[in-house]
Amino acid sequence: MKVFHVVGARPNFIKLAPVVRALQLHDSVEQRIVHTGQHYDVSMSDIFFQQLEIPCPDVNLEVGSGSHSKQTAEIMVRLAPMLVDARPDFVLVYGDVNSTIAAALVCSKLGIRIAHVEAGLRSFDRTMPEEINRLVTDQLADILFTPSEDGDHNLEREGIAAGRIFRVGNVMIDTVLRLLPVAKRIHHDDLQDRYALVTLHRPSNVDDAVTLKEILTSLLEVNRDLAVVFPAHPRTRQRIDNFGLNTSQLRVLDPLPYIEFLSLQMRAVVVITDSGGIQEETTYLRVPCLTMRENTERPITVSLGTNTLVGRDRNKLQTEVSKILGGEGKKGTVPPLWDGLTGERIADVLVAQP
Ligand code: UD1
Repeated sequence: MKVFHVVGARPNFIKLAPVVRALQLHDSVEQRIVHTGQHYDVSMSDIFFQQLEIPCPDVNLEVGSGSHSKQTAEIMVRLAPMLVDARPDFVLVYGDVNSTIAAALVCSKLGIRIAHVEAGLRSFDRTMPEEINRLVTDQLADILFTPSEDGDHNLEREGIAAGRIFRVGNVMIDTVLRLLPVAKRIHHDDLQDRYALVTLHRPSNVDDAVTLKEILTSLLEVNRDLAVVFPAHPRTRQRIDNFGLNTSQLRVLDPLPYIEFLSLQMRAVVVITDSGGIQEETTYLRVPCLTMRENTERPITVSLGTNTLVGRDRNKLQTEVSKILGGEGKKGTVPPLWDGLTGERIADVLVAQP
């Protein structure tokens, strides 16, 4: 069986690693990794391949940045001829980024079967580019691997046949589990013992000057009680510079490699984020997470885990941080099937396909 993985952005790489490892144990499977080049900085891409021990991509489409239309279209144009030649039995796509929807569209037109890893998540907010990517990719996929029960329900409601849905658990957690012992050995002597770890990169939070300024003001308030450590996504860093905002009182860092970031997460008093994956990682690590969004496609992190949605409400953020400092943060439980074996379950389903 010939399996192609198409990945492009940082969170894709974290999900790819366990699936590649699990498929390597099946002699009948021949794998190829296609990197679209959506993320191209060493700190957003190469370092992840190294730390997660993912084989070097067989192909890099080098599409780089651009508008959503341009980025998606470029991936499609560059990917199609390759797939026409190679005719894989399955193309695996991951998560909800532009590389995911682009590959799914190409495959569906070429009649190549698609398996979507992390299917079924819904924020029900179509102003979010990732929500469009999720909806379309799931309609086109032949096999849908969901992380949790809510994903199954969302897909069934959208008319996806139950026989195509496989609840396999959360593949990101496979990577957390495998690298946690390594992360525990890292020491951050240059950091204070108690800190709030912050990441922000959603267009809705960082692309507007007034909004970003308000968010930074609320982080300065947090910083009075708890040192803020803020590894900034390139997009966020660019916006801070372009808008001329002052972050001198916060500890703003370059994007961190996976293991270093994991070690910071596990020791944080609180994580403040707008990321999707970090809501899940903190739930697994039992670290309180305050999500600066109005909604989440990962509701299980709120119902079972340590996540609380605070939107952009400064008072709510402050109140929740105070609660956590007072020892009243959410403790949460780890959702079912977040057990480190999701990659194996995905591989088992795939190799059983005709
Ligand atoms: C993408 C995903 C988002 C995911 C995030 C993780 C989509 C629609 N969004 O958002 O779901 O949470 O990745 O990081 O696919 N840039 C660099 N170097 C890089 C990559 C990006 O400088 O290696 C800058 C570029 O200026 C670019 C901007 O960041 O224009 C945004 O990059 P892009 O890949 O379009 O979206 P992300 O914000 O990273």
